[in-house]
Amino acid sequence: MAKISIEDLKRIKERERSRMVLREGDFRAKITVHMGTCGIAAGARDVMTTFRDLLAKRDMMDVMLTNSGCAGLCAKEPMITVEVVDQAPVKYILVDKEKALRIFEEHVVGGNPVEDYALAKGSETQAT
Ligand code: FES
Repeated sequence: MAKISIEDLKRIKERERSRMVLREGDFRAKITVHMGTCGIAAGARDVMTTFRDLLAKRDMMDVMLTNSGCAGLCAKEPMITVEVVDQAPVKYILVDKEKALRIFEEHVVGGNPVEDYALAKGSETQAT
């Protein structure tokens, strides 16, 4: 019988947490824009507006867009977290409008994380 590692357990925990949060609201995905003071100063409002406009333009009701406080890395703002049901959450760094468009198409719509812009997959302690 194969052993389950700590990393396996972390992945399972993240996947199940994501599944629970998203299923409660019948959402397929969730985009969180971190809007602490440094995030706003770095352009988080433009990132939020970009996602809001994309969702409105496509009339996508199965994607939750929300904000939160800072993610703890001033130098990497604006940061966002994308959660897709049955996948580990992914934190993206230094997000601008151009990156937001690519993340939206490839990850939110397509389900494929954009590793070029990702800080971490899963919890902050887990490297990609
Ligand atoms: S104040 Fe910059 S990450 Fe919190």
